[in-house]
Order: sequence, then C-alpha cells, then structure tokens
Amino acid sequence: MLTGALVRLRALEPADSEAMWRWYHDPEVGRWMDAGPPISLAQNMEKGQNRPRNTFEQMQLGIETLEGQKFIGYVALGDTDFVRGEAVLQSVAIGDPGYRGGGYGTDAVRVISRYAFEEMGLHRLMLWVVADNVRAVQAYKKVGFVEEGRRREAFRARGKRYDYLMMGLLEHELK
Ligand SMILES: CC(C)(COP(=O)(O)OP(=O)(O)OC[C@H]1O[C@@H](n2cnc3c(N)ncnc32)[C@H](O)[C@@H]1OP(=O)(O)O)[C@@H](O)C(=O)NCCC(=O)NCCS
Repeated sequence: MLTGALVRLRALEPADSEAMWRWYHDPEVGRWMDAGPPISLAQNMEKGQNRPRNTFEQMQLGIETLEGQKFIGYVALGDTDFVRGEAVLQSVAIGDPGYRGGGYGTDAVRVISRYAFEEMGLHRLMLWVVADNVRAVQAYKKVGFVEEGRRREAFRARGKRYDYLMMGLLEHELK
C-alpha cells in the first residue's frame, strides 16, 4: 500500500535521525516551512530514540527510493478526523538534494494520499503551502490537489510576507 512508482514510505528509525538533523538545518529544505530554533545533533538523536509510535491520527513516515532503498525524505499526515473523514498533509520534504526535482516528492504525496483514502477510509485531505513554493504547489497539483483558499501574508521569511494557499483533495480527484 505504501509503495509508489519511485518511492516507498516506511516508519522512521533512530538511524534516520542524523540525516533528518541535517535536513532540518538545510535552508533549501526549510525555506518555505515554519522553522524552529537550531537543535543539536545529540538532541535530535535523543528525539529519534523516543519518537512516538505512528497512529492513524498522527503519523510521520520516511521516504525511501524503491531502487536502492535510500532514505531521502519524510512526509507527515495528521489531525485526522474520522467523523468528517478528513486529515491534514502536514509536511513533505525531499531532504537529499540529489533527489529533489526528480518526481520523488510527487510520488510520496500520491502514495500517502492513496493510503489515506483506501486504507484509512478518509474522504478528503487538506494542506497549507506557501504560494511562492512553486515546486511544492506543482507537486500537489499533479496529485490532484486544488486551491480552496488563501491566507494572505500569513507566512513570514527573511523579512518578507507571503500568502499561504489552502489546498484540498477529494477521494475521487486523486491522480
Ligand atoms: C516540495 C518537494 C517535496 C517536491 O518534491 P520534488 O521531488 O522536488 O518535486 P517533483 O520532482 O515531484 O516536481 C514537482 C514539480 O515541480 C516542478 N519543479 C521542480 N523544480 C522546480 C523549480 N525549481 N521551480 C519550479 N518548479 C519546479 C517539476 O518540474 C515538477 O513538475 P513537472 O513534473 O510537471 O515538471 C521538494 O522539492 C522539497 O522537499 N522541497 C523542500 C521542502 C518543501 O518545501 N516542502 C513542502 C512544504 S511542507
């Protein structure tokens, strides 16, 4: 179920923590995300040892290539509301720069979306993305997400303000 054309999604392991720490501090990865303050590698390794177990309400999965099983990024789905049949795609990142722009991010979004609809029985997914994050917006659109709203000037980075787009995907719209 969690296998796509290019990637497989799997639970995160403590051994993934070092790569995630590097990605967390990579300005290319964090450019359009809400950044926290710097954390030490030791703190991140500790966090990796005590990661909460994934649930249908909140999960974070590693993205690895089908070919060669290389750990290249992560995706998170959460805030699941089974009464409304909705969850939030909270983040997706291809941390390994060698794999950005190669279709891996789009595939990961497609795989987690299909899992949400087919395995979790959800009806819709939603997400927030900075409107200027063209690569991410394009990846989401390719999977079928459409713009549903705009939070004007709600994201601030390097002294500038940007709009957030709210995007949504219905079960039957998944491409
Ligand atoms: C957003 C992200 C997950 C997309 O994954 P990806 O593997 O790089 O994207 P894909 O290769 O699947 O490409 C998506 C589309 O964007 C286009 N694209 C790629 N690089 C681009 C760029 N620099 N500018 C504009 N469009 C670009 C691609 O052409 C592709 O569309 P196409 O197939 O129609 O040509 C990845 O770039 C990333 O991790 N970015 C940093 C973290 C981030 O911003 N995450 C999203 C917010 S939480």
